[in-house]
Amino acid sequence: MTTEQERILIVDDEEAIRRLLYQKLLGEGYRGEEAGSAEQALDKLRSNTIELVLLDIKMPGKSGAELLPGIKASYPDTAVIMATAITDTSTAIQCMKEGAYDYLTKPFNLDEVILSVDRALEKRRLELENRDYQQHLEQKVEAQAKKIRASFLNAMTALAYALEAKDIYTSGHSQRVAESAVAIAKEIGMPPDSINKVRLAGLVHDIGKIGVKESVLNKVGKLTDDEFEHIKAHCEIGEHILTPIVEDEEILKAVRHHHERYNGKGYPDGLSGEQIPLGARILAVADAYDAMTSERSYRKAMSDETACTEIERGKGTQFDTEVADAFLRTKKSATSAV
Ligand SMILES: [Fe+2]
Repeated sequence: MTTEQERILIVDDEEAIRRLLYQKLLGEGYRGEEAGSAEQALDKLRSNTIELVLLDIKMPGKSGAELLPGIKASYPDTAVIMATAITDTSTAIQCMKEGAYDYLTKPFNLDEVILSVDRALEKRRLELENRDYQQHLEQKVEAQAKKIRASFLNAMTALAYALEAKDIYTSGHSQRVAESAVAIAKEIGMPPDSINKVRLAGLVHDIGKIGVKESVLNKVGKLTDDEFEHIKAHCEIGEHILTPIVEDEEILKAVRHHHERYNGKGYPDGLSGEQIPLGARILAVADAYDAMTSERSYRKAMSDETACTEIERGKGTQFDTEVADAFLRTKKSATSAV
């Protein structure tokens, strides 16, 4: 079976042989090109799309055997069939080891030539189809994975909105914490995958507040000890809410521990120092800064400068010094960029 696009390059130093093969291939519906030397063959390969090369092993100058590796390296999708004298089949076999599809012996039996050409081109077509299919499949899988990631992010954002609908003071808070947390994560050189997890954790860090009574959540004035205990539960509730949809431990632990303090006096588990997951240490700084600079019904928003001083003061006690410093650097570069 031939397709009209398939072009065959006949490389042989004897013109009579080239003509013979050319006519036969033409009669079979192929297009032909001719080259009388290795140099001419390379020229033809450069200027045409060649599906198959019929390559004479013995030619004056650069031989076909010498040319073969170059063809396979530069045109790996081009099939090559070697042509050789009956006395030199060992070279032809060596050529097959180097990527030639077949070899034909001279004098040619033209029907055998066509049979071999047809087979080589069929094999080539199948290989290309298979490769296209594989590539298509990989693209499909990647597109699907992208979709899943987007849906996941949407689900996270929806959860953040759900909380904001309930807690009037958190409007925009989750988004801002996520953004600051990402800036810190980048500043300390976290890998892209971890930065993404920090972003997601930032978006949903307070989701557990869905489980806190509105009367406590929106209370104006000082909380009683019991009310404070109740509100503290949001860290564990958050982890619990997220566990069915978030399989990632880094995100779950960042949410659970975002109120831990570096000196061990935070909650829910009183972890200290490096025991606190890095994501949680980052959220702690981003969360505290946003809380301080946001207006509450019972107090005015702190200025950016005062809030930064507070972060500075909390280094080593409330916050991880390295994380707090990274945050302060991001604030400084953001200010100088304005
Ligand atoms: Fe919180």
